[in-house]
Amino acid sequence: MSQEQLAERIAAYPSWFYNFNLNGIETSPDTVESNRRHELRKEFFLDPLIQASAFAGKRVLDIGCCSGFWSFHALEAGAEYVLGVDAWPQAIEQAQLVADVKNISADRCEFRLEDIFTLLSQQELSDSFDIVLCLGFLYHIKRPIELLEHIYRVSRDLLILDTTVYDNDDAVISLRPDAGKQSYVESARDRLAFVPSEKALHWMMKEVGFQCRTIQHAFSSDDKGVADYINGERMVFACSKLTDVSSIYSDLKDKPDDAPATLLEFLEEYHQNKHNEAQEMRRLKEAQQLVREREARELELDVALKEAQQLVREREARELELDVALKEAQQYVRDREKDISVLNAQREKDISVLNAQVEGLKYLIDRIEKHWLLGFMSKIFIGSRD
Ligand SMILES: C[S@@+](CC[C@H](N)C(=O)[O-])C[C@H]1O[C@@H](n2cnc3c(N)ncnc32)[C@H](O)[C@@H]1O
Repeated sequence: MSQEQLAERIAAYPSWFYNFNLNGIETSPDTVESNRRHELRKEFFLDPLIQASAFAGKRVLDIGCCSGFWSFHALEAGAEYVLGVDAWPQAIEQAQLVADVKNISADRCEFRLEDIFTLLSQQELSDSFDIVLCLGFLYHIKRPIELLEHIYRVSRDLLILDTTVYDNDDAVISLRPDAGKQSYVESARDRLAFVPSEKALHWMMKEVGFQCRTIQHAFSSDDKGVADYINGERMVFACSKLTDVSSIYSDLKDKPDDAPATLLEFLEEYHQNKHNEAQEMRRLKEAQQLVREREARELELDVALKEAQQLVREREARELELDVALKEAQQYVRDREKDISVLNAQREKDISVLNAQVEGLKYLIDRIEKHWLLGFMSKIFIGSRD
């Protein structure tokens, strides 16, 4: 695509959520404060992950990826594969355009236009992602716990959740309208959104099974575009199944853990059972995988054995052919030897016949010579008397 065509494609959209630099052309250079906001958000919760090499070789799910800002950063930080999902056609088109310009192949990065609940209902996605990014998303939907349960099922380890929170010390959820989704794919058009308080979120994470810590921001009051983080209306949570998130984020707030003891005990037992069940499932899957591998190996060996048997059969047939050829050759040699000895005997015979004939001829010549000499002498003798 030429620079002019690229500039036309970029300008064809009424807006860009992020300011990408595509071959020297900026997609949204005028939205200065919002551009700065995304940079500050990145410094706040993505850079520590990048610095800890958390993305290296990992599979990442970017929920509500919009035009892919976070997906591209995860890829640049070494992610093996990123799946970005969004229900807004324009956002997915833009993300794909950026991926095309950056020459990123589809086996490393895919963007799907889909309602996240439709995608996450696919059972085969279980245990598929090492890191799930759920940024600026939770406050757009009315089924937050269902979403977190889905995320827990598809994730192997980390979830970074960036969301508006209801500024309240209790574990409460605020109900809000979330309009303006006319162009979204059909099932993603929730008109109501549930916005949990920080404590409610911690309880929800606990209920689902994630270890959850609130990450403290280090913004100063001069930072533009991040007022909601500064005044406590927006927070970021580092949640994990395995990794100790304190190895990634230095400033974590202790969880607001004053859930009733009965709830905590119940959850403790519930998660222990769930954990055991998950381990059993994992072991079962590993065993099934082993069986599949062994079956595949046996199949390979079977094929190799059949090939070897075929080779042996072919070699035996070849040896048989060679044996026949050898015998024929030996017979031929014997026949030729016989011919030669017959010929030799015949030649000896011929030679002795010839020799006898030569002797006969010699004798004859001798007799003729003698006879002729006698005649000649007598002629001379008789002549001299006349
Ligand atoms: C505020 S933007 C956040 C974009 C990005 N994650 C970020 O933090 O910069 C929310 C995105 O979620 C998408 N979205 C909202 N509801 C969705 C749903 N049910 N399924 C998939 N995407 C959805 C919107 O289209 C939008 O791009």
